[in-house]
Amino acid sequence: MTPADRTATDLPSDERTVTLLRERAFAAMDRAYAPYSKFKVGAALLASDGSITEGCNVENAAYPAGICAERGAVSAAVARGNRGFEAIVIATEADEPTPPCGICRQVLEEFAPHLVVVAFTREGREGRWTLDELLPRAFTPHSLDRR
Ligand code: THU
Repeated sequence: MTPADRTATDLPSDERTVTLLRERAFAAMDRAYAPYSKFKVGAALLASDGSITEGCNVENAAYPAGICAERGAVSAAVARGNRGFEAIVIATEADEPTPPCGICRQVLEEFAPHLVVVAFTREGREGRWTLDELLPRAFTPHSLDRR
């Protein structure tokens, strides 16, 4: 199976890895800085080498300067030397599992167009998608090709 054939239920890793990612995402969520929205988000990003990098949303008094958990995780992982990713697990306190916002989808697309995206609520509700599903017909690095 190539990454492009992946569906949301075909995780690249076992469920124990998802459980670990989920724990790391909720721990990151608890460290989120969200005094304005009061909507804490945590993310745990699994790189192709098996390493996990967390992110949380970090808001700012100048509201647009805040950053989402998912993009924080991507930036930190790239700074660690990772550019290929298998899965991201997102944790929030929402009633429904929440997929990443549009800007985060675009940032994830740059490095992992076939990423598996899993979202959890505190109550254990789960949503599972591929990035292909969440961002069809994406603008990609190939879109910049002149021919
Ligand atoms: N947020 C994330 O961290 N990730 C998303 O994908 C959606 C939204 C954050 C941004 C802001 O700090 C708060 O959630 C409310 O929008």
